[in-house]
Amino acid sequence: MLRTPLINVMTAAAQKAARGLIRDFGEVEHLQVSKKGPADFVSTADRKAEKVLFEELQRARPKYGFLMEERGAVEGVDTSNRWIIDPLDGTTNFLHGIPQFAISIGLERDGQIFAGVVYNPITDEMFVAEKGQGAFLNGRRLRVSARRDIAESLFATGIPFVGRGNHDLFLGQLRAIMAVSAGVRRNGAASLDLAWVAAGRFEGFWEQNLQPWDMAAGMILVSEAGGFVTDLAGGRNIFQRGDIAAGNDAMHPAMVKTLAGAKAAAS
Ligand code: IPD
Ligand code: CA
Ligand code: CA
Repeated sequence: MLRTPLINVMTAAAQKAARGLIRDFGEVEHLQVSKKGPADFVSTADRKAEKVLFEELQRARPKYGFLMEERGAVEGVDTSNRWIIDPLDGTTNFLHGIPQFAISIGLERDGQIFAGVVYNPITDEMFVAEKGQGAFLNGRRLRVSARRDIAESLFATGIPFVGRGNHDLFLGQLRAIMAVSAGVRRNGAASLDLAWVAAGRFEGFWEQNLQPWDMAAGMILVSEAGGFVTDLAGGRNIFQRGDIAAGNDAMHPAMVKTLAGAKAAAS
């Protein structure tokens, strides 16, 4: 169980924002058949959730700054603490009535991710971690998977889509990983992909073209569960590069090496 004052503040904010998202998700399925589709409705739901998170976190920690997907950066009096927030990660799933999305709240302290909460309101799975305190799912301690054989390992990734990412590079990466692993999943919410690595459901996750709010909370979940998180080159410039590799101690290096081989073959 992890009930530090900080985690309490973060989970309470996530639960409050989740109530609106659950209501709106229920509406979305009715809107699939409307001509315009639910897109505008969903972007309103997204902004409403962000507003709740902003207000709750600001009330609890008035001096902290913010980096939010919708509103952008809000500087705080306390420049060493900054919330990094994605109010709705997995928007495309939400829009299509697929119950795989999350609220993601990370806290950056002195340039390092210090705490994270990733909450899937539909499954009611609350993933939390604080530096040095471990990672937990609904009160149960998390450890990354112990699998050491890549042929038995399951990987998650994000597939680039229209107008986004390097499609050829991705196809080379996919070809390389699928050739040696038990499979590759594209579940559609990067924060949950990372949380699922922390929970031992995936042995590894990689993606490029991500933003800090997609990754911040999930990064500390993986490291506090005993896993490794780097950029795709194996370095520490995750936010600067916008790419990430996360996994257990055996599959993280194996995945980074395999992906590097795919990149070399593409260039
Ligand atoms: C997206 C999800 C998705 C990833 C995309 C992200 P959003 O975030 O995390 O899994 O592949 O690249 O942009 O737009 O749903 O907040
Ligand atoms: Ca996102
Ligand atoms: Ca989002």
